[in-house]
Amino acid sequence: MAKSFYLETFGCQMNVVDSERIVATLHDLDYQQVDNPEQSDLILLNTCSVRDKAERKVYGHLNRFKALKQENPRLIIGVGGCVAQQEGEKILKKLPFVDLVFGTHNVHRLAELVGEVAVRRGQQLATEFLDRETRLRLFPRRAAGSGIARFVTVMQGCDNFCTYCVVPLVRGREISRPCDEVLDEVRALAGQGVKEITLIGQNVNSYNRQEATAPDFAGLLQQVHAIEGIERIRFVTSHPRDLSDPLIDSFASLEKLCPQLHLPVQSGSDPILTAMNRGYTVADYLGKVERLRAVRPDIRLSSDVIVGFPGETQEDADASLALVREIGYADIYLFLYSPRPGTAAAALVDDTPAAVKQARFEAILAAQKENSQRIWGADVGQILPILVEGPSRRNGEESLFGRSPWNRIVNFRGDPQLIGSIVPVKIIRNNTNTQFGTIL
Ligand code: SAH
Ligand code: SF4
Ligand code: F3S
Repeated sequence: MAKSFYLETFGCQMNVVDSERIVATLHDLDYQQVDNPEQSDLILLNTCSVRDKAERKVYGHLNRFKALKQENPRLIIGVGGCVAQQEGEKILKKLPFVDLVFGTHNVHRLAELVGEVAVRRGQQLATEFLDRETRLRLFPRRAAGSGIARFVTVMQGCDNFCTYCVVPLVRGREISRPCDEVLDEVRALAGQGVKEITLIGQNVNSYNRQEATAPDFAGLLQQVHAIEGIERIRFVTSHPRDLSDPLIDSFASLEKLCPQLHLPVQSGSDPILTAMNRGYTVADYLGKVERLRAVRPDIRLSSDVIVGFPGETQEDADASLALVREIGYADIYLFLYSPRPGTAAAALVDDTPAAVKQARFEAILAAQKENSQRIWGADVGQILPILVEGPSRRNGEESLFGRSPWNRIVNFRGDPQLIGSIVPVKIIRNNTNTQFGTIL
């Protein structure tokens, strides 16, 4: 009988891509994926440690699996991703029922590590960082996922060291994948019928920062744009400091580039941006937004905002609120500051009462709700080009789902043969995260 595995993925697109690779590795080992941890021979969590809450969630899940291990001593439990990288051996000590901890640079060793556990039943740990050459050699190859819209990794790691952020510590230094490899992957995906590509990395617009002779991110985009069969291109995430003029101009010159950009501002106050080591001022940021809107008037922006960074005054928080209103983001991801081990900000005095932070959070959330309702609500009655991605099930009724140019999921009734094409859909209703329409 084939063995089975259960995999849960937390965090950002980096983990989603790593999980595709984990799935492919386990398929090669004759494991089949199941939705229920109770029926599996191998449980893996691919974890995120960007905030304390994300990390605690991992421990919560693991403790639930402890009982399963007591029932079935042959069960293998493994932890990968950013919490694994950050905590390493501590997980194995704290939770003796965990068999395997593998970090962000060790996904390629999964088969070997699972084999070791199966044979020896000893705990396995693999959290060492790899050198640049090895990482380039092992760069995630063609991902194993499926679908019409796919992620392609262009760079890994981060050198920015924003003072609150654990990512540079758990993902290591920035490396850019050679341009030819990215293009080969996109061409292969286009050959399989993929229509939309999202280029991903922690800071995609610093692509090839260290390689002066190789194409920068704007250059890469141009080449991806030339690939036949690909109809839509997006990218995430962009650091405002590295959003160059040529990249801004791409939004005018490359018609496949969707009119949508996630450009995390983090704070609307210069002293806080400085304390965060973000490398731009509010005025710099507003200037870039102005240029983006000049070259692509229909562009919709989204952002990340952190509330309650150490030392944040009411004035700083009001400045973030004012900026959220002024920019009129389509969406924001709002976070309460969470001190992370090993980061510079973790050493700062953080004496703002939790209730005060919460009130600041609620104020920005309410302002954003107005933005979102205004911007997404305006789609109602419009006819939008929707790239059909697959079947969806709503209220027990068969229907299709796709995405608008602004990346909103739109549900509508239609023939499954439309999957993979762009069709005109009139938007009828706007819900919180999705829209509903009728095909024309
Ligand atoms: N590389 C991306 C995403 C990093 S993590 C970028 O630079 O935009 C995603 C978001 O999590 C960040 O943009 C930030 O808003 C938030 N974040 C990171 N560390 C945090 C912390 N310690 N506390 C609260 N939010 C945090
Ligand atoms: Fe973290 Fe800053 Fe790097 Fe983004 S740019 S991953 S917030 S250190
Ligand atoms: Fe989380 Fe790691 Fe991504 S910390 S946000 S999964 S890089």
